[in-house]
Amino acid sequence: MSLLAFPALYLVLASFALSPAVGASTPLVRTYEGDTFFDRWSYYGNYDNTTNGDAVFVNKSVADSSKLTYLSSANTAIIKVDNTSTVPYNEKRNTVKITSTDSYPVGSIWVLDVLRIPYGCSVWSAFWSYGKGATWPEQGEIDTIEGVNMGWANQMALHTEDGCAITASSSAYSGTVNSTSCYYEDNDNSGCAITDSSYSSYGEQFAANGGGVYVTQLAEEGVSIWFFERSSIPDAVSSANSSIDTSSLGTPSGFWSKDGCDVDKFFGDQSLVFDITLCGDWAGQSSILSTTGCSALTGTETCYSKYVLDSSNYANAYFEINSLKVYSNGSSSSSSSSSSNSTSGALSSVHSPGGSLAMSIMGYTTAAVLGLSTFFGLGLGMLV
Ligand SMILES: *[C@@H]1O[C@H](CO)[C@@H](O)[C@H](O)[C@H]1NC(C)=O
Ligand SMILES: *[C@@H]1O[C@H](CO)[C@@H](O)[C@H](O)[C@H]1NC(C)=O
Ligand SMILES: *[C@@H]1O[C@H](CO)[C@@H](O)[C@H](O)[C@H]1NC(C)=O
Ligand SMILES: *[C@@H]1O[C@H](CO)[C@@H](O)[C@H](O)[C@H]1NC(C)=O
Ligand SMILES: *[C@@H]1O[C@H](CO)[C@@H](O)[C@H](O)[C@H]1NC(C)=O
Ligand SMILES: *[C@@H]1O[C@H](CO)[C@@H](O)[C@H](O)[C@H]1NC(C)=O
Ligand SMILES: *[C@@H]1O[C@H](CO)[C@@H](O)[C@H](O)[C@H]1NC(C)=O
Repeated sequence: MSLLAFPALYLVLASFALSPAVGASTPLVRTYEGDTFFDRWSYYGNYDNTTNGDAVFVNKSVADSSKLTYLSSANTAIIKVDNTSTVPYNEKRNTVKITSTDSYPVGSIWVLDVLRIPYGCSVWSAFWSYGKGATWPEQGEIDTIEGVNMGWANQMALHTEDGCAITASSSAYSGTVNSTSCYYEDNDNSGCAITDSSYSSYGEQFAANGGGVYVTQLAEEGVSIWFFERSSIPDAVSSANSSIDTSSLGTPSGFWSKDGCDVDKFFGDQSLVFDITLCGDWAGQSSILSTTGCSALTGTETCYSKYVLDSSNYANAYFEINSLKVYSNGSSSSSSSSSSNSTSGALSSVHSPGGSLAMSIMGYTTAAVLGLSTFFGLGLGMLV
């Protein structure tokens, strides 16, 4: 019997046995790694109808058979764009969007140890999360990793309903704020974005450095994202085998304090997402291409005609992942309609469709489809 199949028992242990012993630690609840990395995800299985990308997010059978998701000989998980097929004119190129079948409440931390993040002209890659159980963005969206083309610095962001913004003093984070309002109707849904100050936080330089680790903490006190280059991963992260304590990690790259954004109000249980799209509302704009290391479009060129048809543009368009670990207190503090501390509330805290009890409680509708929702000054419409 696994603890995860019985969240109530897990909660009891967490409350009365683990917590006192480990102080400020948050216990490990799931590891996506090696030959089990791809076990608990749903594949989108449709063209990109969320960001107008020139991409088809394939289903699992196509991803398996054409090796767009697979375990490498080095035991790393690969998630990639098809860079071997010739795409006939007017068709889209195959790539991947996967969403975790489990979702994690406020009081959780996800740690991604990643060697490569997809890059290249026309490539738009992201590792993010959203509140799956509601109409987007009622339960919030957290973009941990996002970037386009040959961009060099990672951009983090939250997207929420009205009333959430960055207010923390700039000494509380090391990145640079792009926009303070997280409300999706402000700033053309660019979210409250913070760009990492490290030029090796994304793309070519990130890969050249052997990647690194991204730590995303969704806590009542606020949302924090830390980035560590491979050469400077703290022991508190690399040795967090059964629990993690983030109190010694120092100033995060991005921090969104509860003072400006009531986390319990704006965030519900988060599903984790990896995706790679091509062109689309952000990466594909001529002005964006030209400011992120690629040439601007000229004459009748489109991002599609210039890049997508040529498979050689996608040799670097892949994630290579060592592991994704999720730590969670499992405390029921999501923005679900129930505010009681009843048994069912507790059971719904770490959503696990694998357990029939949890399944019956969480009552998901089929994957609420949202998109990756970062738009910068584009004046484009909503994605959902
Ligand atoms: C989990 O609970 C511990 C003990 O109360 C706390 O120190 C820690 O910050 C919590 N973790 C998160 C991610 O909120
Ligand atoms: C996009 O595709 C998904 C998956 O097939 C589907 O569930 C959703 O309704 C579509 N959304 C739109 C806006 O067409
Ligand atoms: C997966 O997608 C392919 C290509 O669209 C389709 O032929 C196939 O029937 C799909 N398989 C499943 C199991 O949905
Ligand atoms: C966000 O801010 C960074 C740092 O100032 C800047 O380099 C980047 O171009 C900005 N991004 C957008 C989309 O404006
Ligand atoms: C954590 O696991 C790694 C790899 O299995 C091991 O080398 C290390 O000693 C462990 N650390 C602790 C603190 O248990
Ligand atoms: C496709 O990408 C892989 C991974 O980067 C690379 O090894 C391979 O050479 C590429 N194939 C082609 C045909 O470009
Ligand atoms: C639920 O538990 C929290 C934390 O223990 C407590 O502060 C709150 O009063 C409880 N609410 C109810 C309705 O019992």
